[in-house]
Amino acid sequence: MGRLIAISNRTAADPSARAGGLAVAVWESLTSTGGMWFGWSGNIVKGEPGPPEHITDEGVDFVVTDFTEAEHDGFYLQYANRVIWPVFHYRVDLAHFGDTDFDAYEKVNKRIADMVVPHLEKGDSVWVHDYHFLLMGDYLRKGGWDGPIGFFLHIPFPSPEVFRALPEHEQIARAMCAFDVLGFQSENDRSNFVQFLVRSCDGVDEGDGWISVFGRRIRANAYPIGIEAESFAKLATGQRAKTATSRIGKFLGGRKLVLGVDRMDYSKGLPQRFEAVGKMFDNFPSTRGRVSFTQIAPPSRSKVEEYQDLRVQLDELAGRINGDYGDLDWIPLRYLARSYDRKELAGLYRIASVCLVTPLRDGMNLVAKEFVMAQDPDDPGVLILSQFAGAAEQLSDTLIVNPHDRYHVAETIYKALEMPLEERQERWEKLRRTVVEQDISWWRQKFLDDLDVDTC
Ligand code: UDP
Ligand code: G6P
Repeated sequence: MGRLIAISNRTAADPSARAGGLAVAVWESLTSTGGMWFGWSGNIVKGEPGPPEHITDEGVDFVVTDFTEAEHDGFYLQYANRVIWPVFHYRVDLAHFGDTDFDAYEKVNKRIADMVVPHLEKGDSVWVHDYHFLLMGDYLRKGGWDGPIGFFLHIPFPSPEVFRALPEHEQIARAMCAFDVLGFQSENDRSNFVQFLVRSCDGVDEGDGWISVFGRRIRANAYPIGIEAESFAKLATGQRAKTATSRIGKFLGGRKLVLGVDRMDYSKGLPQRFEAVGKMFDNFPSTRGRVSFTQIAPPSRSKVEEYQDLRVQLDELAGRINGDYGDLDWIPLRYLARSYDRKELAGLYRIASVCLVTPLRDGMNLVAKEFVMAQDPDDPGVLILSQFAGAAEQLSDTLIVNPHDRYHVAETIYKALEMPLEERQERWEKLRRTVVEQDISWWRQKFLDDLDVDTC
Protein backbone atom coordinates (compact mmCIF):
# COMPACT_ATOMS: atom_id res chain seq x y z
CA MET A 1 0.00 0.00 0.00
CA GLY A 2 1.35 3.46 -0.98
CA ARG A 3 1.35 6.53 1.19
CA LEU A 4 -1.27 9.25 1.12
CA ILE A 5 0.20 12.73 0.63
CA ALA A 6 -2.11 15.63 1.51
CA ILE A 7 -1.60 19.24 0.46
CA SER A 8 -3.70 22.08 1.88
CA ASN A 9 -3.06 25.67 2.86
CA ARG A 10 -3.92 25.15 6.52
CA THR A 11 -2.71 21.99 8.18
CA ALA A 12 -3.35 20.48 11.59
CA ALA A 13 0.28 21.31 12.49
CA ASP A 14 -1.09 24.81 13.13
CA PRO A 15 -3.19 24.28 16.30
CA SER A 16 -5.40 27.30 15.54
CA ALA A 17 -6.55 25.57 12.32
CA ARG A 18 -7.58 22.24 13.85
CA ALA A 19 -11.17 23.38 14.43
CA GLY A 20 -11.98 24.14 10.76
CA GLY A 21 -13.90 21.65 8.63
CA LEU A 22 -11.01 20.98 6.26
CA ALA A 23 -8.32 20.44 8.88
CA VAL A 24 -10.51 18.04 10.88
CA ALA A 25 -11.38 15.94 7.82
CA VAL A 26 -7.86 15.67 6.41
CA TRP A 27 -6.42 14.95 9.85
CA GLU A 28 -8.80 12.03 10.27
CA SER A 29 -7.85 10.66 6.83
CA LEU A 30 -4.12 10.83 7.47
CA THR A 31 -4.07 9.43 11.01
CA SER A 32 -5.94 6.38 9.73
CA THR A 33 -3.79 5.82 6.62
CA GLY A 34 -0.37 7.27 7.61
CA GLY A 35 1.34 9.69 5.29
CA MET A 36 2.54 13.24 4.85
CA TRP A 37 0.85 16.62 4.94
CA PHE A 38 2.26 19.72 3.25
CA GLY A 39 1.10 23.30 3.67
CA TRP A 40 1.54 26.69 5.30
CA SER A 41 2.97 26.91 8.82
CA GLY A 42 0.61 29.78 9.70
CA ASN A 43 3.66 32.12 10.10
CA ILE A 44 4.53 35.18 8.06
CA VAL A 45 8.18 36.24 7.83
CA LYS A 46 10.01 39.35 6.71
CA GLY A 47 12.50 38.46 3.98
CA GLU A 48 12.86 34.97 2.51
CA PRO A 49 11.35 31.96 4.32
CA GLY A 50 13.85 29.45 5.73
CA PRO A 51 13.76 25.74 4.84
CA PRO A 52 10.42 23.96 5.46
CA GLU A 53 9.83 22.72 8.99
CA HIS A 54 9.30 18.98 9.62
CA ILE A 55 6.96 17.93 12.45
CA THR A 56 5.67 14.46 13.32
CA ASP A 57 2.40 14.03 15.19
CA GLU A 58 0.36 10.81 15.65
CA GLY A 59 2.24 9.12 12.78
CA VAL A 60 1.66 12.00 10.35
CA ASP A 61 4.72 13.79 8.93
CA PHE A 62 4.06 17.46 8.38
CA VAL A 63 6.20 19.61 6.12
CA VAL A 64 5.19 23.25 6.42
CA THR A 65 6.59 26.51 5.11
CA ASP A 66 6.33 30.11 6.26
CA PHE A 67 4.94 32.73 3.87
CA THR A 68 6.63 35.98 3.01
CA GLU A 69 4.55 39.12 3.60
CA ALA A 70 4.07 39.42 -0.18
CA GLU A 71 2.86 35.78 -0.45
CA HIS A 72 0.51 36.15 2.49
CA ASP A 73 -0.95 39.30 1.00
CA GLY A 74 -1.09 38.44 -2.73
CA PHE A 75 -1.82 34.71 -2.50
CA TYR A 76 -3.86 34.31 0.71
CA LEU A 77 -5.52 37.64 1.49
CA GLN A 78 -6.05 38.85 -2.08
CA TYR A 79 -6.38 36.14 -4.73
CA ALA A 80 -7.62 33.25 -2.57
CA ASN A 81 -9.85 35.26 -0.24
CA ARG A 82 -10.83 38.39 -2.20
CA VAL A 83 -11.17 36.83 -5.64
CA ILE A 84 -11.82 33.08 -5.59
CA TRP A 85 -13.73 32.95 -2.29
CA PRO A 86 -16.34 35.63 -3.18
CA VAL A 87 -16.76 34.44 -6.79
CA PHE A 88 -17.18 30.79 -5.79
CA HIS A 89 -19.73 31.90 -3.16
CA TYR A 90 -21.66 33.85 -5.83
CA ARG A 91 -20.56 37.25 -4.47
CA VAL A 92 -18.98 38.69 -7.60
CA ASP A 93 -19.97 42.09 -6.21
CA LEU A 94 -17.44 41.62 -3.38
CA ALA A 95 -14.56 40.40 -5.56
CA HIS A 96 -11.48 42.60 -6.08
CA PHE A 97 -9.76 41.87 -9.35
CA GLY A 98 -6.19 43.21 -9.16
CA ASP A 99 -3.47 42.98 -11.79
CA THR A 100 -0.75 41.20 -9.80
CA ASP A 101 -2.49 38.92 -7.32
CA PHE A 102 -2.87 36.01 -9.74
CA ASP A 103 0.93 36.04 -10.16
CA ALA A 104 1.30 35.58 -6.41
CA TYR A 105 -1.30 32.78 -6.52
CA GLU A 106 0.61 31.00 -9.32
CA LYS A 107 3.95 31.42 -7.57
CA VAL A 108 2.77 29.99 -4.25
CA ASN A 109 1.11 27.02 -5.99
CA LYS A 110 4.39 26.38 -7.81
CA ARG A 111 6.57 26.87 -4.73
CA ILE A 112 4.53 24.37 -2.71
CA ALA A 113 4.51 21.88 -5.63
CA ASP A 114 8.31 22.17 -5.85
CA MET A 115 8.51 21.56 -2.11
CA VAL A 116 6.38 18.39 -2.41
CA VAL A 117 7.78 16.67 -5.54
CA PRO A 118 11.19 15.62 -4.08
CA HIS A 119 9.37 13.77 -1.27
CA LEU A 120 7.13 11.73 -3.59
CA GLU A 121 7.82 8.04 -4.13
CA LYS A 122 6.43 5.52 -6.60
CA GLY A 123 3.13 4.18 -5.26
CA ASP A 124 2.18 7.39 -3.42
CA SER A 125 -1.13 9.13 -4.04
CA VAL A 126 -1.46 12.87 -3.72
CA TRP A 127 -4.62 14.50 -2.41
CA VAL A 128 -4.85 18.29 -2.83
CA HIS A 129 -7.44 20.28 -0.89
CA ASP A 130 -9.43 23.42 -1.51
CA TYR A 131 -9.49 26.66 -3.45
CA HIS A 132 -6.01 27.82 -2.47
CA PHE A 133 -4.42 25.19 -4.70
CA LEU A 134 -6.48 24.96 -7.90
CA LEU A 135 -3.25 25.03 -9.96
CA MET A 136 -1.36 22.46 -7.88
CA GLY A 137 -2.05 19.44 -10.13
CA ASP A 138 -0.56 21.20 -13.13
CA TYR A 139 2.59 22.25 -11.22
CA LEU A 140 3.06 18.76 -9.77
CA ARG A 141 2.89 17.33 -13.31
CA LYS A 142 5.33 19.97 -14.59
CA GLY A 143 7.61 19.06 -11.68
CA GLY A 144 7.72 15.48 -13.01
CA TRP A 145 5.11 13.66 -10.88
CA ASP A 146 3.05 11.23 -12.97
CA GLY A 147 1.31 9.28 -10.19
CA PRO A 148 -2.33 9.77 -9.12
CA ILE A 149 -3.47 13.22 -7.96
CA GLY A 150 -6.88 13.83 -6.45
CA PHE A 151 -8.43 17.18 -5.61
CA PHE A 152 -11.28 18.00 -3.26
CA LEU A 153 -13.00 21.38 -3.27
CA HIS A 154 -14.40 22.17 0.19
CA ILE A 155 -16.32 25.24 -1.03
CA PRO A 156 -19.02 25.53 -3.73
CA PHE A 157 -18.18 25.50 -7.43
CA PRO A 158 -20.28 28.25 -9.05
CA SER A 159 -22.48 28.07 -12.12
CA PRO A 160 -20.57 28.50 -15.43
CA GLU A 161 -21.62 32.14 -15.97
CA VAL A 162 -20.41 33.10 -12.48
CA PHE A 163 -17.16 31.14 -12.91
CA ARG A 164 -16.56 33.11 -16.11
CA ALA A 165 -16.49 36.28 -14.00
CA LEU A 166 -13.02 35.21 -12.85
CA PRO A 167 -10.61 36.92 -15.23
CA GLU A 168 -8.32 33.86 -15.13
CA HIS A 169 -11.08 31.24 -15.43
CA GLU A 170 -9.63 29.63 -18.57
CA GLN A 171 -6.20 29.08 -17.06
CA ILE A 172 -7.73 27.81 -13.84
CA ALA A 173 -10.08 25.35 -15.55
CA ARG A 174 -7.28 23.99 -17.72
CA ALA A 175 -4.98 23.54 -14.71
CA MET A 176 -7.76 21.82 -12.74
CA CYS A 177 -7.95 19.20 -15.48
CA ALA A 178 -4.41 18.06 -14.58
CA PHE A 179 -5.96 16.32 -11.54
CA ASP A 180 -7.14 12.74 -12.08
CA VAL A 181 -10.17 12.86 -9.77
CA LEU A 182 -11.98 16.05 -8.79
CA GLY A 183 -14.29 15.90 -5.80
CA PHE A 184 -17.12 18.33 -5.07
CA GLN A 185 -19.38 18.71 -2.05
CA SER A 186 -22.66 18.38 -3.95
CA GLU A 187 -24.18 17.25 -7.25
CA ASN A 188 -24.94 20.88 -7.97
CA ASP A 189 -21.24 21.84 -7.71
CA ARG A 190 -20.14 18.87 -9.80
CA SER A 191 -22.64 19.62 -12.50
CA ASN A 192 -21.56 23.31 -12.62
CA PHE A 193 -17.97 22.23 -13.21
CA VAL A 194 -18.87 19.65 -15.86
CA GLN A 195 -21.19 22.08 -17.66
CA PHE A 196 -18.36 24.59 -17.85
CA LEU A 197 -15.99 22.02 -19.36
CA VAL A 198 -18.60 20.85 -21.86
CA ARG A 199 -19.77 24.31 -22.95
CA SER A 200 -16.49 26.22 -22.89
CA CYS A 201 -13.65 23.70 -23.25
CA ASP A 202 -15.04 21.15 -25.75
CA GLY A 203 -15.21 18.60 -22.93
CA VAL A 204 -17.21 15.40 -23.47
CA ASP A 205 -19.29 14.07 -20.59
CA GLU A 206 -18.91 10.28 -20.92
CA GLY A 207 -21.12 9.45 -17.95
CA ASP A 208 -20.35 7.93 -14.54
CA GLY A 209 -18.23 10.98 -13.73
CA TRP A 210 -15.80 10.51 -16.63
CA ILE A 211 -14.96 13.51 -18.81
CA SER A 212 -12.65 13.76 -21.79
CA VAL A 213 -11.09 17.20 -21.97
CA PHE A 214 -7.78 18.81 -22.99
CA GLY A 215 -6.60 15.41 -24.28
CA ARG A 216 -7.05 13.69 -20.89
CA ARG A 217 -9.72 11.55 -19.19
CA ILE A 218 -10.57 12.81 -15.73
CA ARG A 219 -13.27 12.03 -13.18
CA ALA A 220 -15.50 14.58 -11.45
CA ASN A 221 -17.91 13.39 -8.78
CA ALA A 222 -19.78 14.57 -5.69
CA TYR A 223 -18.38 13.32 -2.37
CA PRO A 224 -20.30 15.12 0.39
CA ILE A 225 -17.94 15.45 3.33
CA GLY A 226 -18.99 13.94 6.66
CA ILE A 227 -17.97 14.10 10.31
CA GLU A 228 -16.75 11.48 12.78
CA ALA A 229 -20.39 10.98 13.67
CA GLU A 230 -20.34 8.48 16.55
CA SER A 231 -17.45 10.10 18.34
CA PHE A 232 -19.09 13.53 18.05
CA ALA A 233 -22.24 12.08 19.64
CA LYS A 234 -20.08 10.93 22.55
CA LEU A 235 -18.56 14.40 22.93
CA ALA A 236 -22.05 15.79 23.56
CA THR A 237 -22.35 13.91 26.84
CA GLY A 238 -18.71 14.41 27.87
CA GLN A 239 -17.47 16.55 30.74
CA ARG A 240 -16.48 19.63 28.69
CA ALA A 241 -19.90 19.59 27.01
CA LYS A 242 -21.71 19.33 30.35
CA THR A 243 -19.77 22.27 31.75
CA ALA A 244 -20.68 24.38 28.72
CA THR A 245 -24.35 23.29 28.98
CA SER A 246 -24.52 24.26 32.61
CA ARG A 247 -22.83 27.64 31.97
CA ILE A 248 -25.29 28.62 29.24
CA GLY A 249 -28.12 27.08 31.30
CA LYS A 250 -27.47 29.72 33.98
CA PHE A 251 -27.85 32.46 31.41
CA LEU A 252 -30.99 30.94 29.87
CA GLY A 253 -32.86 30.57 33.16
CA GLY A 254 -35.34 28.09 31.64
CA ARG A 255 -35.78 29.93 28.32
CA LYS A 256 -35.46 28.07 25.05
CA LEU A 257 -32.19 28.41 23.16
CA VAL A 258 -31.97 29.14 19.44
CA LEU A 259 -28.32 28.69 18.43
CA GLY A 260 -26.04 29.67 15.55
CA VAL A 261 -22.36 28.64 15.16
CA ASP A 262 -20.40 30.07 12.22
CA ARG A 263 -17.07 31.64 11.34
CA MET A 264 -17.74 35.35 10.94
CA ASP A 265 -18.00 35.20 7.17
CA TYR A 266 -20.33 37.04 4.78
CA SER A 267 -21.21 33.71 3.16
CA LYS A 268 -22.90 32.58 6.39
CA GLY A 269 -25.88 34.99 6.12
CA LEU A 270 -25.51 36.37 9.65
CA PRO A 271 -27.12 39.83 9.13
CA GLN A 272 -30.10 38.20 7.41
CA ARG A 273 -30.33 35.71 10.29
CA PHE A 274 -30.25 38.43 12.95
CA GLU A 275 -33.01 40.28 11.11
CA ALA A 276 -35.09 37.11 10.86
CA VAL A 277 -34.77 36.62 14.62
CA GLY A 278 -35.92 40.23 15.10
CA LYS A 279 -38.90 39.53 12.81
CA MET A 280 -39.80 36.51 14.90
CA PHE A 281 -39.98 38.61 18.07
CA ASP A 282 -42.14 41.07 16.11
CA ASN A 283 -44.53 38.64 14.48
CA PHE A 284 -44.77 36.06 17.27
CA PRO A 285 -45.01 38.07 20.51
CA SER A 286 -45.34 34.90 22.60
CA THR A 287 -41.63 34.24 21.96
CA ARG A 288 -40.62 37.48 23.71
CA GLY A 289 -39.03 36.75 27.05
CA ARG A 290 -39.28 32.97 26.40
CA VAL A 291 -36.61 32.47 23.77
CA SER A 292 -32.95 33.56 23.54
CA PHE A 293 -30.89 33.52 20.39
CA THR A 294 -27.12 32.98 20.84
CA GLN A 295 -24.76 33.28 17.90
CA ILE A 296 -21.18 32.00 18.25
CA ALA A 297 -19.15 33.82 15.57
CA PRO A 298 -15.36 33.53 15.80
CA PRO A 299 -13.76 36.34 13.76
CA SER A 300 -12.15 35.09 10.54
CA ARG A 301 -9.78 36.71 7.98
CA SER A 302 -10.02 39.97 9.88
CA LYS A 303 -7.36 41.65 7.74
CA VAL A 304 -9.78 41.58 4.79
CA GLU A 305 -11.97 44.68 4.48
CA GLU A 306 -15.24 42.86 3.71
CA TYR A 307 -14.82 40.87 6.94
CA GLN A 308 -14.18 44.06 8.92
CA ASP A 309 -17.35 45.57 7.41
CA LEU A 310 -19.33 42.51 8.43
CA ARG A 311 -18.13 42.84 12.02
CA VAL A 312 -19.37 46.47 12.15
CA GLN A 313 -22.69 45.49 10.59
CA LEU A 314 -23.26 42.69 13.11
CA ASP A 315 -22.32 44.90 16.08
CA GLU A 316 -24.88 47.47 14.95
CA LEU A 317 -27.63 44.98 14.21
CA ALA A 318 -27.20 43.14 17.52
CA GLY A 319 -27.33 46.45 19.39
CA ARG A 320 -30.46 47.54 17.54
CA ILE A 321 -32.33 44.27 18.01
CA ASN A 322 -31.53 44.14 21.73
CA GLY A 323 -32.49 47.82 22.04
CA ASP A 324 -35.82 47.21 20.28
CA TYR A 325 -36.88 44.00 21.98
CA GLY A 326 -34.78 43.50 25.14
CA ASP A 327 -36.16 43.92 28.63
CA LEU A 328 -34.84 44.35 32.17
CA ASP A 329 -34.54 40.61 32.64
CA TRP A 330 -34.10 39.37 29.06
CA ILE A 331 -31.45 39.67 26.33
CA PRO A 332 -33.10 38.51 23.08
CA LEU A 333 -29.94 38.15 20.98
CA ARG A 334 -26.43 37.40 22.16
CA TYR A 335 -23.54 37.30 19.79
CA LEU A 336 -20.18 36.05 20.96
CA ALA A 337 -17.29 36.97 18.68
CA ARG A 338 -14.96 34.23 19.90
CA SER A 339 -14.32 30.58 19.22
CA TYR A 340 -15.23 27.63 21.43
CA ASP A 341 -13.74 24.17 21.50
CA ARG A 342 -15.78 21.53 19.63
CA LYS A 343 -16.21 19.68 22.95
CA GLU A 344 -17.94 22.77 24.35
CA LEU A 345 -19.95 23.35 21.18
CA ALA A 346 -21.27 19.79 21.47
CA GLY A 347 -22.86 20.73 24.81
CA LEU A 348 -24.38 23.92 23.38
CA TYR A 349 -25.85 22.01 20.43
CA ARG A 350 -27.39 19.50 22.81
CA ILE A 351 -29.23 22.06 24.92
CA ALA A 352 -30.44 24.08 21.91
CA SER A 353 -34.09 23.74 20.87
CA VAL A 354 -33.29 25.04 17.41
CA CYS A 355 -30.06 25.40 15.40
CA LEU A 356 -30.04 28.03 12.67
CA VAL A 357 -27.74 27.10 9.78
CA THR A 358 -28.70 29.68 7.17
CA PRO A 359 -25.70 30.46 4.93
CA LEU A 360 -26.28 32.32 1.66
CA ARG A 361 -23.85 29.75 0.17
CA ASP A 362 -21.82 27.00 1.80
CA GLY A 363 -19.83 24.08 0.41
CA MET A 364 -21.21 21.64 2.99
CA ASN A 365 -21.57 23.05 6.54
CA LEU A 366 -20.35 20.66 9.19
CA VAL A 367 -22.12 22.51 12.00
CA ALA A 368 -25.43 21.13 10.65
CA LYS A 369 -24.13 17.54 10.96
CA GLU A 370 -22.55 18.13 14.36
CA PHE A 371 -25.84 19.54 15.67
CA VAL A 372 -27.71 16.42 14.53
CA MET A 373 -25.24 14.07 16.25
CA ALA A 374 -25.26 16.02 19.53
CA GLN A 375 -29.03 15.67 20.13
CA ASP A 376 -30.69 13.82 22.99
CA PRO A 377 -32.82 11.07 21.32
CA ASP A 378 -35.54 11.58 23.96
CA ASP A 379 -35.89 15.28 23.23
CA PRO A 380 -34.13 16.26 20.00
CA GLY A 381 -33.85 19.86 18.81
CA VAL A 382 -34.74 21.03 15.30
CA LEU A 383 -32.30 21.98 12.55
CA ILE A 384 -33.23 24.85 10.24
CA LEU A 385 -31.07 24.61 7.13
CA SER A 386 -30.51 26.90 4.17
CA GLN A 387 -31.36 25.55 0.73
CA PHE A 388 -27.97 26.99 -0.34
CA ALA A 389 -25.84 24.83 1.97
CA GLY A 390 -24.34 21.68 0.40
CA ALA A 391 -25.73 19.79 3.42
CA ALA A 392 -29.30 20.44 2.17
CA GLU A 393 -28.86 17.75 -0.53
CA GLN A 394 -28.34 15.09 2.17
CA LEU A 395 -30.42 16.52 5.03
CA SER A 396 -33.62 17.20 3.13
CA ASP A 397 -35.73 15.79 6.02
CA THR A 398 -35.13 18.89 8.06
CA LEU A 399 -36.77 22.33 7.78
CA ILE A 400 -35.26 23.93 4.68
CA VAL A 401 -35.40 27.72 4.21
CA ASN A 402 -34.37 30.45 1.82
CA PRO A 403 -32.07 32.57 4.04
CA HIS A 404 -32.96 35.76 2.14
CA ASP A 405 -36.64 35.43 3.07
CA ARG A 406 -36.63 36.86 6.62
CA TYR A 407 -40.38 36.41 7.09
CA HIS A 408 -40.29 32.76 6.19
CA VAL A 409 -37.20 32.14 8.36
CA ALA A 410 -38.95 33.87 11.30
CA GLU A 411 -42.04 31.72 10.80
CA THR A 412 -39.91 28.57 10.51
CA ILE A 413 -38.10 29.27 13.79
CA TYR A 414 -41.49 29.62 15.46
CA LYS A 415 -42.71 26.39 13.85
CA ALA A 416 -39.55 24.60 15.05
CA LEU A 417 -40.01 25.88 18.60
CA GLU A 418 -43.61 24.60 18.61
CA MET A 419 -42.93 21.28 16.85
CA PRO A 420 -44.42 18.28 18.73
CA LEU A 421 -41.97 15.76 20.22
CA GLU A 422 -43.08 12.93 17.91
CA GLU A 423 -42.39 14.92 14.74
CA ARG A 424 -39.04 16.10 16.10
CA GLN A 425 -38.03 12.51 16.82
CA GLU A 426 -39.16 11.25 13.42
CA ARG A 427 -37.25 13.90 11.53
CA TRP A 428 -34.17 13.61 13.74
CA GLU A 429 -33.96 9.82 13.36
CA LYS A 430 -33.81 10.17 9.54
CA LEU A 431 -31.16 12.88 9.74
CA ARG A 432 -29.10 10.90 12.25
CA ARG A 433 -29.10 7.83 10.02
CA THR A 434 -27.78 9.85 7.07
CA VAL A 435 -25.04 11.56 9.11
CA VAL A 436 -23.92 8.22 10.58
CA GLU A 437 -23.99 6.34 7.27
CA GLN A 438 -22.26 9.07 5.29
CA ASP A 439 -19.61 9.92 7.85
CA ILE A 440 -15.99 10.94 7.41
CA SER A 441 -14.72 7.40 6.70
CA TRP A 442 -17.43 6.91 4.06
CA TRP A 443 -16.34 10.18 2.39
CA ARG A 444 -12.65 9.31 2.46
CA GLN A 445 -13.18 5.76 1.20
CA LYS A 446 -15.49 6.85 -1.62
CA PHE A 447 -12.94 9.39 -2.83
CA LEU A 448 -9.88 7.18 -2.48
CA ASP A 449 -11.64 4.27 -4.19
CA ASP A 450 -12.19 6.49 -7.22
CA LEU A 451 -8.56 7.60 -7.09
CA ASP A 452 -7.77 3.89 -6.95
CA VAL A 453 -5.89 4.11 -3.69
CA ASP A 454 -5.65 0.99 -1.59
CA THR A 455 -6.05 2.04 2.05
CA CYS A 456 -6.78 -1.38 3.55
N1 UDP B 1 -15.91 25.48 15.11
C1 UDP B 1 -15.17 25.42 16.27
N2 UDP B 1 -15.28 26.47 17.15
C2 UDP B 1 -16.07 27.55 16.91
C3 UDP B 1 -16.83 27.59 15.73
C4 UDP B 1 -16.72 26.53 14.82
O1 UDP B 1 -14.46 24.46 16.54
O2 UDP B 1 -16.13 28.45 17.77
C5 UDP B 1 -15.83 24.31 14.18
C6 UDP B 1 -17.19 23.64 14.00
O3 UDP B 1 -17.41 22.74 15.07
C7 UDP B 1 -17.00 22.95 12.65
C8 UDP B 1 -16.05 23.90 11.90
O4 UDP B 1 -15.47 24.75 12.88
O5 UDP B 1 -16.35 21.70 12.79
C9 UDP B 1 -16.77 24.75 10.89
O6 UDP B 1 -17.01 23.99 9.75
P1 UDP B 1 -18.17 24.39 8.72
O7 UDP B 1 -18.16 23.38 7.62
O8 UDP B 1 -19.49 24.51 9.41
O9 UDP B 1 -17.79 25.85 8.18
P2 UDP B 1 -16.43 26.49 7.64
O10 UDP B 1 -15.88 27.28 8.79
O11 UDP B 1 -15.55 25.36 7.20
O12 UDP B 1 -16.86 27.41 6.53
C1 G6P C 1 -13.13 27.14 5.12
C2 G6P C 1 -12.20 26.75 3.97
C3 G6P C 1 -10.85 26.25 4.53
C4 G6P C 1 -10.27 27.29 5.48
C5 G6P C 1 -11.28 27.63 6.59
C6 G6P C 1 -10.79 28.72 7.54
O1 G6P C 1 -13.46 26.00 5.84
O2 G6P C 1 -12.80 25.75 3.16
O3 G6P C 1 -9.94 26.02 3.46
O4 G6P C 1 -9.05 26.83 6.05
O5 G6P C 1 -12.48 28.09 5.99
O6 G6P C 1 -10.37 29.87 6.85
P1 G6P C 1 -8.87 30.42 6.90
O7 G6P C 1 -8.82 31.51 5.89
O8 G6P C 1 -8.68 30.89 8.30
O9 G6P C 1 -7.94 29.29 6.56
